[in-house]
Amino acid sequence: MNPTEKILERFNNSMTPNYVPADMIPHRGEGSLVWDIEGREYIDLTGGIAVLALGHNHPEIVAVLKDQAEKLWHVSNYFTTEPALVLAESLCQKTFAEKVFFANSGSEANEAALKLARRYAFDQSGMEKNEIVSLHLSFHGRSLFTVSTGGQKKYSQGFGPLPPKIIHIPHDDEKQLRATISDTTCAVILEPIMAESGVIDISFDFIQKIRELCDQHQSLLIFDEVQTGMGRTGSLFAYQQMDLTPDILTVSKALGCGFPIGAMMTTTKIAKSLTPGSHGSTFGGNPLATAVAKKALDIISDPRLLEGVRHKRKLFEEGLTKINRLYPFFDEIRGMGLLIGCQLLKKYSGLAGDFVKKGLTEKVMLLGAGPDVIRFAPSLIIKDEQIKEGLARFEKVVKALHEAT
Ligand SMILES: Cc1ncc(COP(=O)(O)O)c(C=O)c1O
Repeated sequence: MNPTEKILERFNNSMTPNYVPADMIPHRGEGSLVWDIEGREYIDLTGGIAVLALGHNHPEIVAVLKDQAEKLWHVSNYFTTEPALVLAESLCQKTFAEKVFFANSGSEANEAALKLARRYAFDQSGMEKNEIVSLHLSFHGRSLFTVSTGGQKKYSQGFGPLPPKIIHIPHDDEKQLRATISDTTCAVILEPIMAESGVIDISFDFIQKIRELCDQHQSLLIFDEVQTGMGRTGSLFAYQQMDLTPDILTVSKALGCGFPIGAMMTTTKIAKSLTPGSHGSTFGGNPLATAVAKKALDIISDPRLLEGVRHKRKLFEEGLTKINRLYPFFDEIRGMGLLIGCQLLKKYSGLAGDFVKKGLTEKVMLLGAGPDVIRFAPSLIIKDEQIKEGLARFEKVVKALHEAT
């Protein structure tokens, strides 16, 4: 057995079987490069699933983490700390938000958002206003409330009974939307781009209609920007390109650039429903996570970095289109900024996993989004040459699969 096989055997012996790790064991990373335990070098076009907005081991992030680690790690929420306050103030300054709740993950940020929406509706209108409207195919996390809210049955199947009063409708179906939102709707939750289910764009027009109907029925609009937030789409948050404002905004993934943290943001009026003791988290807002996230937020907010995201998207689009001309493999490129989805042609239906696997043999880390879409979610500061080289390796993957099918 080689060293990689030995580790995978240990994985199978000691870990629950809900993950099936790749047969490449990462050991070290720097920027958009990763080395495995056997010393092979890879170009990372996955960004740890849209987490590593600044790549692996960004020196400024590492420095902040080390500095904070020598000062204070944890004190509990009986105290507040300077890093948490500075981050909250900065998030408020850069968004519509006036109040922030810190969590440790995207699921927890969404759990807080959904609980707040129910509690706010209860405070304003009483028990009856409790329905949550969500989109088919959406993904909002893995807690019981968030798998129930997400629009993919496979994630909630067998975990019932599930929380009631959650209604799913198709995206971009205005008729259904109008028939569903009512005075008993407490909130509508959506991802501006449905990332996990295949980087599916939702039309701005449809989102605008949701906003209007939410206003009409005093329902809250929750934007789940766990994956699209922190510069991924070319603005700090995707909603900032949409000429509207949500009532609640959630973020995680790239907020800590790999250090676990999530945040739920809202207005002072809505936040009032989170009365003392009504919600909480042992680790949420701890000094290590918030110090790291503040540095990440400062770097990512730089307009030059955001401009770079739009430029790098162009490079991806040009490169992918060129490959597609030689070896047709997709019929649509979707998403915004550096959240890119290539919808595979029928011929490759269900084969996204094969592309990802083959990528490792060509020394490029690739990602699927469901079985029929190849997703690219690299570091926002990936070098132009690395995009070129990464796509050259990807071309070899496409060529091989082209020849094999
Ligand atoms: C849009 C969205 N919301 C929520 C989540 C869940 O985040 P986490 O896995 O950190 O709980 C994800 C994770 O992929 C996501 O993409």
